[in-house]
Amino acid sequence: MIPADGVTRRGALGRLGALVAGPVFAPGAGAAAAPTREGIASAHPLATEAGLRILAEGGNAADAAVAVAAALAVVEPFASGIGGGGFFLLRRASDVRGVMVDARETAPQRAHTRMYLDGDGFPLPRASLDGALAAAIPGLPAGLAHVARVYGTLPLGQLLAPAIRLASDGFPVDSRLNAIITLAERRLSRDAGIAAIFLPDGRPPVVGERIRQPALAETLARIAADDARGFYRGALASELVRAVRSSGGLWTDADLSGYQVVERVPQSFRYRGSRVTTASLPSAGGVVLAQSLTMLQALPPATPGSPEEAHLVAEVLRRAFQDRARHLGDPAFHAAPLDMLLSRDYLRKRAASVRMDRITASEALTREVAGLPGSDVAPRESGNTTHLSVVDREGNQVAATLTINTLFGAGIVAGSSGIVLNNEMDDFAMPGSLPNAYGLTGGGANRIEPGKRPLSSMSPTLLDTPRGTWVLGTPGGSRIMSMLLLATMDIVHRPGITPQEVVARPRLHHQYRPDRLDIEPGVFSPDWLASLESRGHRIQPAARPWGNMQLVFVDRSSGQTLAANDPRGRTGIAWF
Ligand code: GLY
Repeated sequence: MIPADGVTRRGALGRLGALVAGPVFAPGAGAAAAPTREGIASAHPLATEAGLRILAEGGNAADAAVAVAAALAVVEPFASGIGGGGFFLLRRASDVRGVMVDARETAPQRAHTRMYLDGDGFPLPRASLDGALAAAIPGLPAGLAHVARVYGTLPLGQLLAPAIRLASDGFPVDSRLNAIITLAERRLSRDAGIAAIFLPDGRPPVVGERIRQPALAETLARIAADDARGFYRGALASELVRAVRSSGGLWTDADLSGYQVVERVPQSFRYRGSRVTTASLPSAGGVVLAQSLTMLQALPPATPGSPEEAHLVAEVLRRAFQDRARHLGDPAFHAAPLDMLLSRDYLRKRAASVRMDRITASEALTREVAGLPGSDVAPRESGNTTHLSVVDREGNQVAATLTINTLFGAGIVAGSSGIVLNNEMDDFAMPGSLPNAYGLTGGGANRIEPGKRPLSSMSPTLLDTPRGTWVLGTPGGSRIMSMLLLATMDIVHRPGITPQEVVARPRLHHQYRPDRLDIEPGVFSPDWLASLESRGHRIQPAARPWGNMQLVFVDRSSGQTLAANDPRGRTGIAWF
């Protein structure tokens, strides 16, 4: 088994005297006077290695993040990739704010709210999950090029070189990839293109066997040669559109040539003396985290790890996820009432209905908002996805969460491109696929509209505490937010906690609907469970552990970094 990888080092291989350039990473007053050491945490040792090589070649954290992201697209092909998208959160050492580069996929211009319904208005089973119709317009190629051009210091070709080598020379399958391909074997076998790569000889490759992706190597080389224009225009773009259209998808040349990344102000707020900087819309992560942590400050403090703390976490998540479902979507299409949703007054009122002795049933919360504006649509996104955290020796930081949505995305490769297509369209709220009992129409802030970004949960995060800065994130769909909530609480409330303890801590999750408390299997004591059950929680142990948190901690006093990988990510058994 090859472990997931986190590496920190003293910068012996770091650049010698190279200047850092770009609006975010240009050293400002007081920046990088005392160089910090480097750290990279990612889900795969070969991706981390790619990033370290770029740091050694003189790159900064943005350069390294691009290299790691591109390498992950090759060695973790089920989780993220050139056919997907993601969010990069970047911050220079001297900056408090940072920037979010939004490389989220967009709906094709011909997309519409009924595209996954049959003639009678019933949902077409799995149509938003499998095949070309499920694929949104990829954002990662533009994201990589943008981050490299605006915030990096090295040419894109140099940053993609390790990924191109991994794709053309191949890399050895580890036990995790073997387990995941085995899990997905039936689905992969339905598409000749994806099966040819990941089921060579018609079966999952065994541990140690090499997977080569020459077509993907060529695609990466085109992106490298032309600042991603080689992806969105020209022969490759035509081939992508041809392949998607011939498999029933809706893409046009104009969808690809019109794709643009968006720079956004991250969501930023304080929690008990620390500052959280995280994803803003179209990720719901920042709003849900800010709401949950602000509500917790209005409630009595609970002992870390206690059932009382778990109860409070479930109750604030229940309320925040209700608001998420009712109000959040792509801000270019829908103006969420953020002033209200994030105001202390509103959140104090929401927290006021939390009781310590028993749950508030989600149904009761639904009744409270009956007749008010907002469409109550439960989140649907499931979790695959990946995360990387990078700190360079100047102290510049990047947290990036990237995805093709569910395991192996849409389950198809686009023509001769070697690209696994995303199924991000499934992150939109779907009409007709929701329980009639709720009276839902599928309208709302996150309904399908041409050119729109589906609401995400991906939440790359920077947490500044008196001890130092924590650069972190995780895959996990809607559970991303509860994982980051628990991590933030642990870091703030357990002064001596180590980065490894943060990523390993037991997990629980509530998301308003279904009204149940999901818990990691086998990690909570019978007394703890009984205490929560006595409050009315419907507890459901998950079939598998979830998440794959990657974290780099920068110690404020020493400047030293510590990287930590989620132990759950080392095998194929975790549910991402
Ligand atoms: N597709 C997972 C997410 O965007 O959160």
